[in-house]
Amino acid sequence: VNRILTGITTTGTPHLGNYVGAIRPAIEASRNSNSESFYFLADLHALIKCHEPELIRQSAREIAATWLALGLDTDKATFYRQSDIPEITELSWVLTCMAAKGLMNRAHAYKAAVAKNVEEGEDPDFGITMGLYSYPVLMAADILMFNANTVPVGKDQIQHVEMARDIAARFNHHFAEVFVLPEAQVDDNVAVLQGLDGRKMSKSYNNTIPLFLPEKQLKKHINKIKTNLLEPGDPKDPDDSTVFQVWQAFASEEKSVYMREQFAQGIAWGEAKKQLFELVNDEIGEARERYNTLLADPDTIEDVLQNGAKKAREISAPMLEKVRSAIGIGRL
Ligand code: TYM
Repeated sequence: VNRILTGITTTGTPHLGNYVGAIRPAIEASRNSNSESFYFLADLHALIKCHEPELIRQSAREIAATWLALGLDTDKATFYRQSDIPEITELSWVLTCMAAKGLMNRAHAYKAAVAKNVEEGEDPDFGITMGLYSYPVLMAADILMFNANTVPVGKDQIQHVEMARDIAARFNHHFAEVFVLPEAQVDDNVAVLQGLDGRKMSKSYNNTIPLFLPEKQLKKHINKIKTNLLEPGDPKDPDDSTVFQVWQAFASEEKSVYMREQFAQGIAWGEAKKQLFELVNDEIGEARERYNTLLADPDTIEDVLQNGAKKAREISAPMLEKVRSAIGIGRL
């Protein structure tokens, strides 16, 4: 069987980028009968960039409600909270001792933080925690713990999956063939969804379109997508347009061809955005209602997560025993 695994960091409200980059492909994949799927809330990862307990808790509720509202079948898929699986943190330490420091030096998130400090004339390490530095190791533990082969992610996470693969290979080579080597799965159509300002849609850029905004707000946000100054009637370049990029992430092949033609014929930005709103709203409208109902009922969400943790630990506990035995730690 194919094992699929992916997680989302609990530091904000799920946005269209999370949806098309990770959640939608993951839910589709989980419907395939010869696959087993593991989806989780990465709340230990949240601690790397957020030290506000209430924000983390709220985000965990929102992300969980999102998966459920979008139709994740939790009888089939294992859906859990990272921090409920203590084996992951132990494995993370073991892998920390296998991961080359030089490899971590190359991690994008860490490098970006250093570059920003340098640019601002600060000490290069200013404000950088060991958590940020070791982020890819914890992520490797998430993936390797469950022997996942396939990791559906957005383009920004490919490097981390490759690092997990690297660390696994190193462990297997040195000790024993314990880990499966994982591979990232990226949907090329939506490799990096752009945000309101045309940069990558990201919580850290504050340019996101939250997935389940009330209809009116969704319309407002879509209207805020940055466009150039071309007038109605001027031909427009779809490949240089966030409006078209988001369209493509939601449209069928046929509808993408249609919108390309509209761009060539000079559709007005206002009209393109109106049609984009309708397209997105049609896809997520029903799920939004389920989302709002679920959010009002955190106990139900909690029950689902507890069940998921139980299922997950049936795999993680024996797996950790295997690791311990391979490295000579634990019972004599
Ligand atoms: P996170 O929380 O930043 O993002 C969750 C998922 O959404 C994808 N994504 C995007 N995809 C397309 N376009 C965008 N603009 C966009 N923004 C975000 C991300 O690529 C990701 O797939 N470290 C991870 C969470 C994590 C994880 C894991 C993922 C922890 N352990 C193990 C997979 C396997 C993160 O911070 O993702």
